[in-house]
Amino acid sequence: MEYQVKNADGRLGILMPGLGAVATTLIAGVESIKKGFSQPVGSLTQMGRIRLGKRTDERFPLIKEFVPLTDLENIVFGGWDVYADNVFEAATTAKVLEPMLLHAVRPELERIVPMKAVFDKAYARNLDGNHVKEGADKMELAEALMEDIRQFKETNGCDRLVMVWCGSTEIYIEESGVHQSIEAFEAGLRSNDPNIAPSMIYAYAAIKSGVPFANGAPNLTVDIPAIVELAKEHGIAISGKDFKTGQTLMKTILAPGLHARALGVKGWFSSNILGNRDGYVLDAPENFKTKEVSKLSVLDEIFRPESNPELYGDMYHKVRINYYPPHGDNKESWDNIDIFGWLGYQMQIKINFLCRDSILAAPLVLDLALFTDLAQRAGMSGIQEWLSFYYKSPQTAEGLAPEHDIFKQLMKLQNTLRHMMGEDLITHLGLDYYQDLVEAL
Ligand SMILES: NC(=O)c1ccc[n+]([C@@H]2O[C@H](COP(=O)([O-])OP(=O)(O)OC[C@H]3O[C@@H](n4cnc5c(N)ncnc54)[C@H](O)[C@@H]3O)[C@@H](O)[C@H]2O)c1
Repeated sequence: MEYQVKNADGRLGILMPGLGAVATTLIAGVESIKKGFSQPVGSLTQMGRIRLGKRTDERFPLIKEFVPLTDLENIVFGGWDVYADNVFEAATTAKVLEPMLLHAVRPELERIVPMKAVFDKAYARNLDGNHVKEGADKMELAEALMEDIRQFKETNGCDRLVMVWCGSTEIYIEESGVHQSIEAFEAGLRSNDPNIAPSMIYAYAAIKSGVPFANGAPNLTVDIPAIVELAKEHGIAISGKDFKTGQTLMKTILAPGLHARALGVKGWFSSNILGNRDGYVLDAPENFKTKEVSKLSVLDEIFRPESNPELYGDMYHKVRINYYPPHGDNKESWDNIDIFGWLGYQMQIKINFLCRDSILAAPLVLDLALFTDLAQRAGMSGIQEWLSFYYKSPQTAEGLAPEHDIFKQLMKLQNTLRHMMGEDLITHLGLDYYQDLVEAL
């Protein structure tokens, strides 16, 4: 299949439900980068390169020079939150970035004021904001969001929009009847079905408005048949879920290495402490459960204990998150990994990652927004599995196991870009080099 990728002309609006730590760190970062104060470190779209052609061709362009992406100068930010604080105030509360940096971009941040949120306290009981829309039913709330989207696009002169969920993690729910088809979902919106989460209302409004959607939290959101069907029907790109940062990033870097060397794993105990608002929301067990399910799936998919029972059949995997206010956004994680090697001899690996949650997440939001917009311009609709690279719990077509190995995810992402632009895919087989040598003799 050949793609006709449209150019990234004009302005791109990035709309985020949830203007908290991650979203404000992204916005302040982009404004600071635009002024030349900082570098977009951690962003593949801005700093990553891609190999094209044969190794001997020496072609390694920057990704942003290879595929048509929106320039940072042409991005406009907007969003919704249950708190009315503008982005400067919210970023100050989040305490991720230094006051000096925030003051350097203060006017740009103060201009961005959240729109009233669609919110249901039953989905995040630790939040008490009241900057919230009212409506007779959930359909009316969805329509109010569609009106916000339309007005934002018009007021800001945007040519295209993308939506990235940066809102809090919602309570754990499983797919139910109301999620199974567009008809059931729309009837549920009208009857205020409690199984329709606020994030699903945003996703519905986005897709109905022609806006692609990426989900940064572990909520179901777009990972239900009704929304997948809606996205296909409207030709809209969707992806999810849960930004892959911190501990899970480390896991999907290390676990493929152990697996590649056929080393066994007996146990993997992961604990985290963090003290930001995300941590506070996750302190409620029903919200933690959503995150836990997302974090736990990773190792099973990489090690496949059922096909490797001698090496991974008895693996004990535990994940803990504890709210610890003194650390703020500076999450600390510990991993104790009990592995075994030749003849079953045991060894241990310890990881103590002192990370900064939002510093790791902000560039992912930027990349997801730019790549999702690219996918939309390339006519790629429905689930964008090639963006698995960014997620803890990648959304796939029904019946397909997600790929968690970060190196395979990167290869898939890069090959998708090559494919879009009509370049040869790279398999790393490399035999052709030797064939050439033989023929040259
Ligand atoms: N920072 C990371 O490394 C990371 C990694 C993976 C996933 N995430 C997820 O990203 C999301 C954002 O993280 P954060 O650290 O910015 O959290 P945060 O608590 O600082 O920000 C979330 C914001 O969303 C708002 N919100 C909640 N429900 C809303 C709704 N229905 N509509 C509009 N706004 C709503 C909250 O008021 C809050 O301001 C969380 O779900 C988190 O679990 C973060």
